[in-house]
Amino acid sequence: MAEPASVPTAQRPERSPQERGEVILEVRDLVKHFPLTQGVIFRKHVGAVRAVDGVSFDLHRGETLGIVGESGCGKSTVAKLLVSLERPTAGQILYKGEDVATLSRRGLKAVRRNIQMVFQDPYTSLNPRMTVGDIIGEPFDIHPEVAPKGSRRTRVQELLDVVGLNPEYINRYPHQFSGGQRQRIGIARGLALNPEIIVADEPVSALDVSVQAQVVNLMERLQKEFGLAYIVIAHDLSVVRHISDRVGVMYLGRIVELGTDHEIYEHPTHPYTQALLSAVPVPDPELAEERERIILTGDVPSPANPPSGCRFRTRCWKAAERCALEVPPLAVPAEYRYAEGPAHHDSACFFAEDRPDLTHPEG
Ligand SMILES: Nc1ncnc2c1ncn2[C@@H]1O[C@H](COP(=O)(O)OP(=O)(O)O)[C@@H](O)[C@H]1O
Ligand code: SF4
Ligand SMILES: [Mg+2]
Repeated sequence: MAEPASVPTAQRPERSPQERGEVILEVRDLVKHFPLTQGVIFRKHVGAVRAVDGVSFDLHRGETLGIVGESGCGKSTVAKLLVSLERPTAGQILYKGEDVATLSRRGLKAVRRNIQMVFQDPYTSLNPRMTVGDIIGEPFDIHPEVAPKGSRRTRVQELLDVVGLNPEYINRYPHQFSGGQRQRIGIARGLALNPEIIVADEPVSALDVSVQAQVVNLMERLQKEFGLAYIVIAHDLSVVRHISDRVGVMYLGRIVELGTDHEIYEHPTHPYTQALLSAVPVPDPELAEERERIILTGDVPSPANPPSGCRFRTRCWKAAERCALEVPPLAVPAEYRYAEGPAHHDSACFFAEDRPDLTHPEG
C-alpha cells in the first residue's frame, strides 16, 4: 500500500448533487458470472464464480468515482463490463439513457469510443514490438473519422505533448520509457478518441510511490482540460481519495458503501469500510496512536460460494442472525434517512453506524 504522504494533498471541493453534471452512465444490477466447468472432453457445468453480483451506480459528467476493495472482489470485471470487453450475465449499462446491450453495432461502436480504458500494468499492456506512435494511434484504425490518415502523426504528437511526453519520441518503443512514462502512453491512447469517460483500472498500482502522484496529477489536469468523467479503480484507499468526488467500496462482487469522499473516509458507516480504513497507515503519530485498529479475521470467502445474506457476515464483528437470512440493500440506513449530515449515504448494512474516523483529515 502506498504511503499516503506521497499523494497530492489538496482536496477536491465537495460538490453538491446539483453541482454535479448530468448522469451519463447508469449501471443497474450488473451481474457477471463466470462458469466453473470440470472435465476436459465433456465439460460439465459445476457452478459459477460470481465475480460481479448486483452492482449499481451512476456516473455524472466530469466527476470521478473511485471504486475500492480487496483483490478479487470484482473491480476489474466491472471495468471490463463497462468498456464492453466482457458481456454482462444480467443487468444494464445505460449510456445517456440507452442500454448498451441492446444497441446496434453502430451504436455500440459509438459508445465504445466514448468509454475508454487505461490499464493497470504499463509493462504488459503496451505491445513491445510497436512504436508509441503506433500504440497511441491504433484506436484510429477502428475510428478513422477521428483522425484521417494524413493527420494521424500530428494528432499522436499532440497527444504525447498533452500527457507531458516529448512529441519527438513518437518512433520509440515502450522499453525505452520508464514505468511512469509508459502509463502516460497508456493514458494518451485512452484519450485518442476524445472519450467522455475513462475507466482506469489500478492506474498507478504498478508504479513507484514517487511516480504515482505525478500520474494522478496528470489525470486531474486532463480531467479539467477535457471535461472527462473517471472511474478510478484501486485496492489502495489513499490513492482513490485524492482523485475522487465519490467512492464506492466493493466486497465480494457488490458495492457495500457509496458516498462522497468525505462521507466514506470520515464517516464510514459500514463495518467493512471501517475495517479497511483502520488499516490505512496514518502519517501523524499522535493520530495513529489514538486510532483503534480493526483487525479482520478469516479470509475473503470464495466468490463461487458466497455467504448467504450479507456477504461480509463471516468476517463481521457485528453479525447477527438477520445478517445470514436477508441481504442488506445498498441504501441510506433507516436511522440516518431523515437526518442531514455525512452519515446520510448508502450503506448495505442492517446495523450501519456512523463511526467518525478523524485520522483521515482533509489534506
Ligand atoms: N475470465 C474469468 N474466468 C473465471 N473467473 C474469473 C475471470 N475473471 C475474473 N475471475 C474471477 O472473478 C473474481 C473477481 O476478479 P476481478 O474482477 O479480477 O477482481 P479484482 O479486480 O477486484 O481483483 C475473482 O475470483 C477472479 O478469479
Ligand atoms: S449486515 Fe450484518 S454482517 Fe453485514 S456488515 Fe452489517 S452487521 Fe455486518
Ligand atoms: Mg483487478
